[in-house]
Amino acid sequence: MAGGAIVNTAGGKEYPGKLTLFVLLTCIVAATGGLIFGYDIGISGGVTSMDSFLKKFFPDVYRKEKEDQNTNQYCKFDSQILTTFTSSLYLAALIASFFASLVTRAFGRKWSMFGGGITFLVGAALNGAAQNVLMLILGRILLGIGVGFANQSVPVYLSEMAPARLRGMLNIGFQLMITIGILCANLINYGTAKIKGGWGWRVSLALAAVPAAIITVGSLFLPDTPNSLIDRGYDTAAKDMLRRIRGTDDIAEEYNDLVAASEDSKQIKNPWGNILRPKYRAQLTMAILIPFFQQLTGINVIMFYAPVLFRTIGFGGDASLMSAVITGLVNVFATFVSIFTVDKLGRRKLFLQGGSQMLVCQIVVGTLIAIKFGTDGVANLSKTYSAFVVLFICIYVAGFAWSWGPLGWLVPSEIFPLEIRSAGQSINVSVNMFFTFVIAQAFLAMLCHMKFGLFYFFAGWVVIMTTFIAFFLPETKGVPIEEMILVWKSHWFWGRFISDSDIHVGNLEMANGNNNKNNSNKTVV
Ligand code: BGC
Repeated sequence: MAGGAIVNTAGGKEYPGKLTLFVLLTCIVAATGGLIFGYDIGISGGVTSMDSFLKKFFPDVYRKEKEDQNTNQYCKFDSQILTTFTSSLYLAALIASFFASLVTRAFGRKWSMFGGGITFLVGAALNGAAQNVLMLILGRILLGIGVGFANQSVPVYLSEMAPARLRGMLNIGFQLMITIGILCANLINYGTAKIKGGWGWRVSLALAAVPAAIITVGSLFLPDTPNSLIDRGYDTAAKDMLRRIRGTDDIAEEYNDLVAASEDSKQIKNPWGNILRPKYRAQLTMAILIPFFQQLTGINVIMFYAPVLFRTIGFGGDASLMSAVITGLVNVFATFVSIFTVDKLGRRKLFLQGGSQMLVCQIVVGTLIAIKFGTDGVANLSKTYSAFVVLFICIYVAGFAWSWGPLGWLVPSEIFPLEIRSAGQSINVSVNMFFTFVIAQAFLAMLCHMKFGLFYFFAGWVVIMTTFIAFFLPETKGVPIEEMILVWKSHWFWGRFISDSDIHVGNLEMANGNNNKNNSNKTVV
């Protein structure tokens, strides 16, 4: 098929070893880094719609919002100041991820996670105690730096720690924690919005300290990955770590491959200049397009604006928050589907299936809204009709939760060779943050102008991204992370950018089939 890579999709080069309790625990602890990102995604929308918060910090916005008598449901009150405040976090994260890549490479992945956790913690304290807009914005920037560091280091850490055949499952722990963070935030907002004294927003913002404390303390107990230890010259420690995480003494083959990868890595002093070389063209393209496409699925329209959206289609204030909780639950549970299938079905099947499911739902939701709201945006929906809309939104969220959600973090973290892995991951994070920012900023204006067509707009992007995956993303399941170059080399399109001399000897031996088991497993996908 056009995805075309000759890879051993039945498990690649399989190193000896098993899934140890130690590696499982370290991956669970590291994955909690996703909680801080998720918590923030879920908390901001709710807080910025609380009257007491607006009155204290953005009185002008509050006044204008109350004066807004517009009955057109497509054109809700849109304050650029308020959305800029929310989005400042994503801009801070974007910049921070570049610094994180330096820390991650020079000092190891765990210190980036620790740095992320502690900065987020300070940001949460500042926000919870905020007396003025300055404190609020400073806090927000610190939260952003925290997210930038965590999102840069956690996915890479998980992909390096995991045995190749379970890498998908363990890496998706990160996305699972993101979804749990979002759900907890939705529930907390639901509760704090009811606090009468007008300080509910403080509780919502300050509780961000809980997930921050979990990853800060947790990271102190985490060992560093063997890949990073070797790269930083700690060969004996790396060997011990490999024995421990694989639960066997038979680690020579994997160790040698890691050493070979590290030797390549040491040739490269400046990953930023190197990443532009033709042999990394495939990975660079993925690091840019995968996060871009992930955001163009339109998922954050639901995550940030679910309460607005549900109110638009006729739910009252409370009910709309409840519906947000329902999508939050669907998001968490559907993520398990990918956890249990990603290493069996592979990444491509999930991408293609999830994409098709999202496409159908976007067309259905757009059409349901078009039928009732037309172009003037005035309508009253019956309970059954609204329930249908919510149902299709939930099916859409489920499709995202087992495809572009987790794979948007997994795939970029597993495709880079060691020498440009940190740099590549920070490109992934920054593109993701940039488009999260753009969508958050533009959504209300887009809805006002494009009306129900907004759903068709995102549907169009889903067609493009699904086609892209079908043709350009080779299957990466089960392939050891330091052997990934072979997958690209044998791809119908990307292969032309990689010459034989770009592949080190260990890889070549595998490619030539010195290992009989591998040889017999080679298939064209
Ligand atoms: C995305 C976020 C999104 C979340 C929803 C993540 O993978 O990066 O932008 O809000 O999934 O679960």
